[in-house]
Amino acid sequence: MVKATVSSLKEKKARGEKISMLTAYDYPSAKMVETAGLDIILVGDSLGMAVLGYDTTLPVSMDEMIHHTKAVTRGARNTFVVGDMPFLSFHLSLDEAVANAGRFLQEAGAQAIKLEGGEERIEVIKRIVSTGIPVMGHIGLTPQSVHQMGGFKVQGKGREQAEKLLHEARMLEEAGIFSLVLECVPAPLADTISKALTIPTIGIGAGAGCDGQVLVWHDVLGITQDMKPRFVKAYTELHAVIVDALKTYKNEVEEGKFPAEGHTFTMREENIPKLY
Ligand code: KIV
Repeated sequence: MVKATVSSLKEKKARGEKISMLTAYDYPSAKMVETAGLDIILVGDSLGMAVLGYDTTLPVSMDEMIHHTKAVTRGARNTFVVGDMPFLSFHLSLDEAVANAGRFLQEAGAQAIKLEGGEERIEVIKRIVSTGIPVMGHIGLTPQSVHQMGGFKVQGKGREQAEKLLHEARMLEEAGIFSLVLECVPAPLADTISKALTIPTIGIGAGAGCDGQVLVWHDVLGITQDMKPRFVKAYTELHAVIVDALKTYKNEVEEGKFPAEGHTFTMREENIPKLY
C-alpha cells in the first residue's frame, strides 16, 4: 500500500474514488488501521472523550495530542497521519499556532494538521500553510465550540447558515487547505460543498456525497457505550466481546483453571527450595 500524500488524495477525488479516514490514538490501533489499508489516520482531539474520559474535547492539551500522535506514527509508518490542533492551541497568536502545528510534524512525525473553524481562522490557516504544513479544515459542527453552538447539533439546515458554510468552504480552499472535514451537516449541503471544491471533503454525519468518510475508532468497533450518534455505524460489537473475555478470565482465575500447564514453566524437582 502506497502512503497517501496531499496530491494523491486530491487525485483520488478527481478520479471519483472515495477516501477512508479513521481516528486512532495509540500504537496498536494505528497498526491495525494501517494493516487494513485505510488512506488517513486522524489523531483527533476526540481523544479527550474517547480515551481520556473528559466530557468534551476542550480540556485536551497540546502535550496530550503530541504524546498520542507519537504512538500512532510509530504504529503506522506507511499511513498519512493528521494531528488535530486542540482548543486554544491556534487561537492566541499566529506564532504560537505555527509553533504548535509544527510540533505535530517535527516531534510527532505527522504529515499534516487539522483545525476547526471557518472565516475567523483564515489568517491562521494561511500562516500555517505558508510554513509548508498541510492543513485540513473542519466546519459544520465544530466540537471545540460546543458551548457556543448550544450542544452537539446539526449545522447548516437553514438557508442563511447553509450559504455561510458554502462560502466558508470556498474561503478555506482558497486559503490553502488540502482537505475539509464536514461534520454534522445535512447531506444535500455536504454534497453541494463537495461539488464546489477541488479539494476532497471528508464527512462525518454529512452523507454519502462527501469525497471521503471519517469515524471514530471506538464507534466503528462498538466499544463506545454512552453516546451513540445517529451517523455512527458500528461494524462489530467489541464492547460485549471484551467484557465477555474479561469475565471468563476472572472466573478462570477464581476457579484455578488459569494458568493451565501450557502457560507455566517447570524446573527440576531437586532445585525446588524445601519449606521447613
Ligand atoms: O476529533 C476528531 O476525532 C474529529 C473527527 C470526528 C473529525 O475531529
